Amino acid sequence: MRKTLLKIEGLSSGYGGIDILKDVSFEVKEFEVACIIGPNGAGKSTLIKTVYGLLKPSSGKITFKDEDITGLSPLNILKKGISYLPQGRAIFPLMTVQENLEMGVFSRRDTKIKEDIAKIYDKFPILKERRNQLAGNLSGGEQQILAIAMALLLSPTLMMLDEPSLGLSPQSMSIIFETIKALNKDGITLLMVEQNAKKALQLADHAIVLELGRKRFEGSGQEVLSNPELKKLYLGG
Ligand SMILES: Nc1ncnc2c1ncn2[C@@H]1O[C@H](COP(=O)(O)OP(=O)(O)OP(=O)(O)O)[C@@H](O)[C@H]1O
Ligand SMILES: [Mg+2]
Repeated sequence: MRKTLLKIEGLSSGYGGIDILKDVSFEVKEFEVACIIGPNGAGKSTLIKTVYGLLKPSSGKITFKDEDITGLSPLNILKKGISYLPQGRAIFPLMTVQENLEMGVFSRRDTKIKEDIAKIYDKFPILKERRNQLAGNLSGGEQQILAIAMALLLSPTLMMLDEPSLGLSPQSMSIIFETIKALNKDGITLLMVEQNAKKALQLADHAIVLELGRKRFEGSGQEVLSNPELKKLYLGG
């Protein structure tokens, strides 16, 4: 049995005192790929933002590596080993690729930064090629790889990705999914939100379906893919 890495219990959260997310509970096991799917406005981003400390829950508890992290600041949550890729392109378009990677490690105070950036360039040769170009001039897929690389420089145990394939060409999308698979192979646990549910569910060990802020279904990626009702609702028949 895999160990529980992240535990979410009875989580409610929202904006301006109104709960969007309602009493959501699930666990993410070590080394798995967990995927949150659901229609627009279901509360997927709200859930991820609450785990990362950007929103304070109105009730519920978030436990990471057996430690209560509910209500901690994003920086402190990052230091515990959780990184977060927000929805949209999380890069600085007017800075070069190299400068972006340096921004990615702003919170680190150690001396291994240069070495780690060199490792990133080995892993993602496309970034090395473009190191002196403005990040805003990269293709959408390349920008997303840069965002992932920035998150990776913080050596996360858990990486949370909010719609990493949004707005990408089918080809870039495949590259992003391959990159995500490779991260997981390297031992990073993933919690991701995806509109591209079919593709995401194919690689997900575990899926959580949100609807109107509540957990509607939970199971393996395959279980959602083969459930006729869910298929009709979320996967276009
Ligand atoms: N900053 C905000 N202030 C007020 N309401 C918000 C805010 N952000 C989101 N909401 C509302 O919360 C609800 C859930 O939004 P959320 O972004 O979590 O949905 P989502 O499942 O991520 O949707 P999408 O698939 O479109 O990204 C929506 O009705 C949205 O309008
Ligand atoms: Mg969203």
